[in-house]
Amino acid sequence: MSSSRPVALVTGSGGSLGSEMCKQFLDDGYDVVVSDLREDAAQEVAKTLDPTGERVFTVSIDVGSTQSVDEGIAKIVERFGRLDVLVNNAGNFRQNSTHTYSDEDWRFITNVHLDGAFRCCRAAYPHLKKSPYPTVISIASIAARIGLPGRLSYSVSKAGLEALTRVLAVEWAPDNIRVVGIAPGFTKTQNRIFVDGKEVTYEAFAQAVPMKRMGRPEEQASVVVFLASQKASYINGQTIVVDGGATIDLRV
Ligand SMILES: NC(=O)c1ccc[n+]([C@@H]2O[C@H](COP(=O)([O-])OP(=O)(O)OC[C@H]3O[C@@H](n4cnc5c(N)ncnc54)[C@H](O)[C@@H]3O)[C@@H](O)[C@H]2O)c1
Repeated sequence: MSSSRPVALVTGSGGSLGSEMCKQFLDDGYDVVVSDLREDAAQEVAKTLDPTGERVFTVSIDVGSTQSVDEGIAKIVERFGRLDVLVNNAGNFRQNSTHTYSDEDWRFITNVHLDGAFRCCRAAYPHLKKSPYPTVISIASIAARIGLPGRLSYSVSKAGLEALTRVLAVEWAPDNIRVVGIAPGFTKTQNRIFVDGKEVTYEAFAQAVPMKRMGRPEEQASVVVFLASQKASYINGQTIVVDGGATIDLRV
């Protein structure tokens, strides 16, 4: 039986930003799919959000695998009868000087961030087409817009995501599917940050932001939920930068 509520799938939602997106989608009246490569993390988030399991469904999706994505999306449609919002959020990170990159380093990042989003979009399309207000939202990064050393595959993947957003926005406009994104700046999570093998404090990142603080996961998630809503019904093909002004601060 089809759910009467819209259904949002957030990939990688066992993690910091994704779990907050799930919470806010739930608060906004959606049924929510928590999915992650790490099944235990997804289960934990789902249990916290909705212990009854009535409005939150957990499915293990490895966005790095076409079979896993296709099977996962089939299970969602079996459970809820529909899919209205896809958030391409799953991500990983590995920082290396480019001349030391192995092919495996490169693929580890691009296969999740970029290929993974492509796989999810392709599998979700036939279901999104049937939704009254379908939206795809991809989580890019300010790394796509500035030069951050040692993060070539990550930055290129995120720039690719912005291109994916523009192309699909035009290609899928006749189907009424809006395709948008956000580019978060430095956002405080539980994760530790290493640059050239050395741990960097969150305070150091905060100093690079005009507002002198890092973003909070809820400040990213609220923009995602807004973009999925009818309040954003005329925004299409854009990736909105949510960075406290970090990318426009050139002081001389
Ligand atoms: N935190 C930041 O400062 C920041 C800034 C810019 C962009 N982003 C982007 O936001 C997104 C979420 O980041 P986060 O900070 O919450 O990180 P996070 O590590 O807390 O969450 C990412 C999640 O993705 C999952 N994942 C990894 N590989 C996967 C795969 N193959 N299939 C499915 N899931 C997989 C991980 O298990 C993890 O739970 C990422 O795409 C990241 O690049 C984060």
